[in-house]
Amino acid sequence: MEQLGKDITRAKAILDANGVIGIPTETVYGLAGNAFSPAAITQIFGIKNRPFFDPLIVHVGHAKHLEMCTPHISGQLQRCMEHFWPGPVTFLVNKSTQVPDLVTSGLPKVAVRMPNHSLTLALLQTLDYPLAAPSANPFGYISPTQAQHVLDQLGNMVPYVLDGGPCQVGVESTILEEMETGWKVLRLGGLTIEEVEEFLNQTVAIQDSSSRPAAPGMLDQHYSPRKPLWVGNVEEGVLLFAGKKVATLTLQHQVQGVPGITLSPSGNLNNAASNLFQAMRELDTWDVDVIVAEWMPDRELGRPMNDRLKRAAHRF
Ligand code: TXA
Ligand code: MG
Repeated sequence: MEQLGKDITRAKAILDANGVIGIPTETVYGLAGNAFSPAAITQIFGIKNRPFFDPLIVHVGHAKHLEMCTPHISGQLQRCMEHFWPGPVTFLVNKSTQVPDLVTSGLPKVAVRMPNHSLTLALLQTLDYPLAAPSANPFGYISPTQAQHVLDQLGNMVPYVLDGGPCQVGVESTILEEMETGWKVLRLGGLTIEEVEEFLNQTVAIQDSSSRPAAPGMLDQHYSPRKPLWVGNVEEGVLLFAGKKVATLTLQHQVQGVPGITLSPSGNLNNAASNLFQAMRELDTWDVDVIVAEWMPDRELGRPMNDRLKRAAHRF
């Protein structure tokens, strides 16, 4: 049987039997299982080789799924969900007893989001339970933005991947938490801080990633290619690694005589974000010693891209 396809009935049959499948979202592909099934959750951790202290995001398709996950949500949180969902943002909410502690790594809150992808929303509509789904990559590696990426790395452990095409946003969801003192960003992602602040009409605090990570997606070394990656001014990087085989990863421009990938010839940050992880994967296959990347503009989707580049960077 084909391992890639758009068959929702088959996907549902595997999930109903406590199995695990790959699903598309607008951010990155997820490795999904019944969020209320400890057997399915245990498989997800095993397949990813993910430590149990790193909790999972629960994907909901409608209000009933959300009600199963949490006993209560505040008025402002409710308004945010109505405004931004389906979309690339995850909210931390108080967890109901139905959510296994395995999903939240014992934390009192559960991370929930409604992904904006028609195939996955259609699948969720048919399910009596929400789907726990971390990104469908081995722990520590770059997240998959195409169905084939999931097969390439986890194909021998996942019976089926729903193929929803390349991910439109390309970086993981923004994770937000409402605190008594205001709002906090636990992970920069596909919903820009500019949009969040405009809607809330207040500034939001960005968790300092150098402190003990509250979200292990904030772990310092994450999203890494296997090849050493350096980030900074690319001309400087090329000089620094003179004598080595170098490839560049830039927004628009190229260094003469040096092979590389430009993320968006027009400098469009949305396009660049949707290409970032695929470009990192591709450079990982090139015959080079070092990837020299440049910082993106520090605004909009440039911010989560810089966050991922920083975490992907090798300590030289
Ligand atoms: O865009 C996304 O969010 C993708 C797609 C598949 O939806 N998912 C994703 O999942 O990026 P994952 O597991 O790779 O990253 C989820 C992050 C982790 O760093 C995890 O620690 C954090 O969310 N997280 C999940 N539950 C949490 C909780 N209860 N408290 C704090 N952080 C939590
Ligand atoms: Mg991940």
